[in-house]
Parts: sequence; C-alpha cells; structure tokens
Amino acid sequence: MKAEPVRVLLVEDNSGDRRLISEMLAEVSDLAFDVKHADRLQTGMTHLEQNAVEVVLLDLGLPDSQGLETLRKLHAQASGIPIVVLTGLADEMVGVRAVNEGAQDYLIKGQVDGHLLRRTVRYAIERKHAEEKEKRLRTQLDLSNRLASLGLMVEGIAHEINNPLSSVIGCAQMLTHEDIPEHAKEDARAIGDHAQRVAEIIKNLTTFAKQQKLDPAYVSVNDIITEALNMRSYPLECSGITVVVQLDPGLPRTMADPVLLQQAFLNLIINAEIEMAQAHGKGNLRVQTGLVSDTIQASFADDGPGIAGANLPHVFDPFFSTRGVGQGTGLGLSVCYGIIAEHSGRISVKSQPGKGAVFTVELPVVAPQQQAVPLT
Ligand SMILES: Nc1ncnc2c1ncn2[C@@H]1O[C@H](COP(=O)(O)OP(=O)(O)O)[C@@H](O)[C@H]1O
Ligand SMILES: [Mg+2]
Repeated sequence: MKAEPVRVLLVEDNSGDRRLISEMLAEVSDLAFDVKHADRLQTGMTHLEQNAVEVVLLDLGLPDSQGLETLRKLHAQASGIPIVVLTGLADEMVGVRAVNEGAQDYLIKGQVDGHLLRRTVRYAIERKHAEEKEKRLRTQLDLSNRLASLGLMVEGIAHEINNPLSSVIGCAQMLTHEDIPEHAKEDARAIGDHAQRVAEIIKNLTTFAKQQKLDPAYVSVNDIITEALNMRSYPLECSGITVVVQLDPGLPRTMADPVLLQQAFLNLIINAEIEMAQAHGKGNLRVQTGLVSDTIQASFADDGPGIAGANLPHVFDPFFSTRGVGQGTGLGLSVCYGIIAEHSGRISVKSQPGKGAVFTVELPVVAPQQQAVPLT
C-alpha cells in the first residue's frame, strides 16, 4: 500500500465512539489514516461530494437517518467508495444484511481493536478496487462484444444496399440530362440528393463496421488534434467555449491514418461543443495528451450536461442519439469507435451527469513497418 495517509470519513453521531475509533486508527502502524468526521448522514454526503475519500466508516443509526436506509442513501451517492458499517452487538444481522446491500464489511462496536479495525479498512479498500476493476473490464467486454455483432449486421446491410443505391444515384443523374419536363428533372434531382444522403449514412456505418481501409502514416497525434481544434476554433469561440490544451510535447509518433483520426477527434470536439452550448450557452473543453503505460492517450473533457447513467452504455451504438430529429444521426461516436478500433486502440467515456463528460482515446505506439498489437 502507498505511504500517504488513507483518507477515511467516519460518519458517527456518538462522540465517545467517534473518539475511540479515531484513537484506534491513530495508533502507530505501517499505515497512517487521515480521519474526517461527520455526525449526520447529510453532512457526510456533503463531505463526500466535495472531498476525495477512500473509505467510509458508517454508523447506521444517525439523527437524520436510521438503519439500512442510511447505507442505501450513502451507497447511492458514492457507489465507488467502500463502506464499512458499524453496528451494535444486538444487531449483527443488520451488518450481514448491509454487506448484502453493498457494504464491504461490518464491525461490531465494542468488539473492535485497533488491529482489526485497520485490517478491515485496508481490505475493504483493496476488495473494492478489485471489484471496480473487474466491473470495468466486464463492461468493456460487453460493449465490444455487442458492438462487434452490430458491426457484422451493419456490414451485411451496407453491402446489400450499396449496389442498388449506386444504381438509383446513377439513374437519377441520367434522368436530369434527358429531354423531359423541368418539373420531372426537379424530381430526379431530389431523388439523387436524397439517395446521396443515404449513401453518406451507409459510408458512416461502414466506418463503424471497420470496413474503411486505413491509409497509415507516421504521424503526431498532437498535430492532428491541433489541426482538428483549429478547424473548430471559430464555432467554438462563437459558442462561448474556452479550450484548454495540454499536449505532451514528448508524445511519440505512431503509425495511424491522419484523416480518419482527425475525423474521430472532430466528432468528439463537435459533440462537446453542441452539448455545452445547448446546456449553458458556454463551456470549457480540456484536451490533453500523454503517454500512459506505453500507450498514447488523448482525452476530451467538457463541463456540459454529461450523460445519464442509463445512456452511457449506448452512446457508441449506431443511431443512438438524444438530439432532436434532424439534429443528430447518432453515428458520430459509432464512427469514432470504428476508427479507433481499426487502429487497434480503445475509446471510452466517463461521465457524471450534470458535471460533464470525458472521452478518452487510447492508441498503441506503432513504429513504421511494425504491426499494431491490439490493446488489452
Ligand atoms: N460530450 C458529450 N456530452 C454529453 N452527451 C454526449 C456527448 N457526446 C455524445 N453525447 C451523447 O451521445 C449521443 C450520441 O452521440 P453521436 O454518436 O455523436 O450522435 P449525435 O451527435 O448525432 O447525437 C448524443 O446524442 C448525446 O446524447
Ligand atoms: Mg455527434
């Protein structure tokens, strides 16, 4: 474990119990604890909102909340933080039920010594980390499996549609040169235009289905991002958006298709732009790059409305859009996904509704003449 003190939040209204637990945590050991107190659930929840906490010790009987309800409320707000419940001797069963409802562990007041307390806290944190990591991997795997099967379907549909569609476009074009009445020519032009739109959608779908051939060069991801931002600088400024750019000057070059990567970055920038402008009429976009465990990472963090939890697993699905009819096709992120996957990379999103969204693109560093190894 790390040498920095473990940040503990102790939510307990009984001052005697509070002192006892703090003293036990303060005993000399290989691990130091930084303990903050709250004597009500509400104060505890506010503290969690504003501070980084690694573990919560929670008394279930508080002035403003009683029993398992206390755990449920806290867990709903901070599901990623391990909670150890403190129960009385008479209600050990409550402790067991608390664990079933998401607490990491329980301790019985009066039966705890410093050693047990510190060990419980330490294991609660370690277990929670392992759980969260597994959950992340599972979500990622579910998503890539789902998108892979969608990709196959889309590929089939696109293939079937392309030939008849080219005929429609060709025939419409020919008709406009025929000796036919002007109103019929108008109709032929309209058919051609609409068919072109369908072709555009099919082209985007094909990118999602990884059917687009890469034309890789030895490129600087920083340069591609800078170019994409330059292309959007005017609309960003008009929407009152401040862009903070932190590009790692030491970022290595890699083999990638600059045109497709730029399209992926543009889609991310435009989404953030639209969401922030719609929600607040202004905003902040932070674009960062860096090398993390030999992988190029580029993140796009906005302070827009964020993404509702229920929508989060679907944002990369083709045609998923929360925008009004005619305002979004729901293909932007699917296209990003296809482009990044084709580069053997990964794209992911994190969001706290109300606080913005962060899209992160990870790309392997590939030297010229080297084959990209997919990120695991
Ligand atoms: N930066 C963002 N902030 C909030 N929501 C976003 C953001 N980017 C994408 N989304 C959500 O993901 C959906 C899908 O995005 P996308 O695939 O680009 O399609 P579209 O932009 O056409 O709706 C959007 O409709 C929106 O709900
Ligand atoms: Mg979009």
